[in-house]
Order: sequence, then C-alpha cells, then structure tokens
Amino acid sequence: MPAAPPAPSSDAPTGAKVAWSGHAGDHAATLAAHVFANPAVADRPALRKPATPAHAHRRDSILPALIGEIADGAACSGNDLANTLGVSRAAVWKQIEHLRERGLAISAVPGQGYRLAAPIDLLDAPAILATMTPAARARLAEIRVHWQLDSTSSELLRRAGTETGAAVVCLAEIQTHGRGRRGRSWHTPVTGGIAMSVLKRFEGGMASLAGLSLVVGIAVAQALEDLGMGGVGLKWPNDLMANGAKLAGILVELGGDAHGPCHAVIGIGINCRLGARADLSIDQPWTDLATLSGGTPPPRNLVVARVLDRLVATLDRFAVDGFAAFSAEYAQRDVVRGHRVSVVRADGRHEGVARDIDVRGALIVAFDDGERSLDSGEVSIRGIA
Ligand code: BTN
Repeated sequence: MPAAPPAPSSDAPTGAKVAWSGHAGDHAATLAAHVFANPAVADRPALRKPATPAHAHRRDSILPALIGEIADGAACSGNDLANTLGVSRAAVWKQIEHLRERGLAISAVPGQGYRLAAPIDLLDAPAILATMTPAARARLAEIRVHWQLDSTSSELLRRAGTETGAAVVCLAEIQTHGRGRRGRSWHTPVTGGIAMSVLKRFEGGMASLAGLSLVVGIAVAQALEDLGMGGVGLKWPNDLMANGAKLAGILVELGGDAHGPCHAVIGIGINCRLGARADLSIDQPWTDLATLSGGTPPPRNLVVARVLDRLVATLDRFAVDGFAAFSAEYAQRDVVRGHRVSVVRADGRHEGVARDIDVRGALIVAFDDGERSLDSGEVSIRGIA
C-alpha cells in the first residue's frame, strides 16, 4: 500500500497544520502532496490555494501513488500495481515509461515486476519541517510539495503579489518546464535533484535587490557545509560549483515597485543524484551531491531543511543590510575573482579579468580598455573551471 501521509511533526509551530491533499485513490486530486500552512501568516486565500488547477495534472495523477509503491526498491508486479491503483496494467506500463523518460531507472524483472535501481526518498513537507530550526519555521508562511508542475518558480510567480513578509516555499518532484537563467531550460531526473522556489516580499524596492542571487548562493553553500559538504564555490552570479563543475543554479525573478514593495521568486535547483543517463542537456560540466559525498548524499528533505534554515535568515539580513554585509562571506567562496573570464553580452564576447564584486553585487571586470561593473542580467561568464 502507499505510505500513509506522515503524522504532523510534533514540534511544528503552535497551531500549525500539516495537511495531505492528494492520495492514492483520488485520481482527480491536485498532485500537491504535502502542504504546511502557518496560520500565523497564511490567512490570505491566495496563500492557501495552489495556483495550478487540479485538472492541469489529472493525466498524471496515478504517478505519485505508483512511485510510492515502488519507492523502497522492492519489485512490484504490474498486476499488483494495477489492482492497488485501480487502473489497467497498460496504464501502469504507460506511467512506468513516463517515469523512465524522466530519468528514473526502473527495470522490469521477469516473474517479479517493476523494480527501481535504487530506493528513492520522496520530498515531504512534514519531514522537511521536522528538522528545521523553530526560528526558520516561524518565518515560513507555507511549504508545499507538488508532484508535478511546469516550474516551481512559474507557480510562485502566478501567486506573487499576495505574499506577506514570511516566505512561501514551493517544491516539485517533476518540472515539465523548469527554467534556468538567460532563457535556458533546467532538467532534473525524477527524484535526482531538488527544484524549489521561494516567494519573498521586500519593502525596499527591486533596485535594492541586485545582489540577491549572490546571497542566496552563500546560503545554499553554507547549508551544504552544514551537511558536511565543503569546498562549494560560487561562480558569479548564480552557480554553485564543486571540483570545477556545476552543482546547483539559482534563478531570481523580481516584480513590483522599483523603490517600494516588491517580491522576489528565488528558484534553486540542486543536483542530488543525476545518474548516468541524466537526460539533462546541460551545456557545461556538472556534478551532484552523490559525487560530492562519495556516493551517499544526504536525504533530500534534509538538504531542503538546511537550505531553508540558512535562506530565511539570510533573506532577513539581506533586506536590512544589503549585499555589503555579505561581501566577505562571498569572497571566501568566489571562484571567479582573479580569473580570466569571457563575458558574453548582446554585442558579442569580451575577454577580461574578474577583479571583485562591488557593494551592489555587480562583477568588476578589467578589460583592455578599463574596468567595468557588470550586472547579472546582462552577461554570462564562460571559461571558469
Ligand atoms: C541556472 O543555473 O540557470 C538557474 C537554474 C534554476 C533552476 C531552478 S529549479 C527550481 C526553480 N524552478 C525553475 O523553473 N527554475 C528554478
């Protein structure tokens, strides 16, 4: 049987509710899996309801239950799965194919059935909350784990404008249209990575948020260090690097007033276990937490919890002090400074040497004709290993 929804964590903030909205037999249910809504801050309708309508995912609605059945790595026959899920064997087979296409290694063992190459850990809001610090939990308005979305960032952009000061967190096991910087797409095999976005309101205006993606990078790097994974560097403006390869990426999208209330949707994609057949179309060398940890990455729920612990504190500090307060921490992890960089702009490619990061988080590059500060929106850096 599918695993029952976990009990609400006993030490959730007072009055906090952990709800389950979507289970094995409910084919029409939204695939939002676990939802935590903090009643202290989630009293607005837009924060209680997912922006994606349930019917948008109905086609794939047995997927969460199916994956729940096989998650522990034991073989399950097509017949048993069909009976348990109340669908035909052909429907089971179709969804197994769908999961394979999305990067999950599932073998068909003659006489036994379908079996995952390795057990998987599914994202789960109560499990995330259970290990977060009380201070960080209190700063969350909501955390919602979806089975499938177009993009966690797109989901939160649809909901933007209603947020309070507390952060709204959205995660998905599958993103059908995951987005990276500069119009690129972002792919992760099912359960092979973490796709999360955080919606946060800022009062000081978009103009004051130029260094935001850099401080988010610091928070994620610190979180990985908290989990024993040192040596994570930051490649301006939004990449986390390890051993010369990309480990994670950050996409910050802003809306609202230039000098008044505004919001940021902070998208974070972390490679956990991409696997040999990662169908990723990544245009640069990549690595993952499995490689970094010698084959045993920390559970994804733990990674999310540590990232949120660090991130909510970082965002509050950034809102008050700006990037200047983080420049020393950034410098410790900066893998670009002092290197020759190839700067790709609309008008072509320019060679220079990265000198520093200014107080707004802009990259200072020395070109043949002098130094210039580059904003993250206008350039892409190549040539840093
Ligand atoms: C980059 O390196 O170009 C940024 C990648 C950001 C990917 C994350 S995954 C969660 C969130 N949802 C998206 O569609 N993109 C971001």
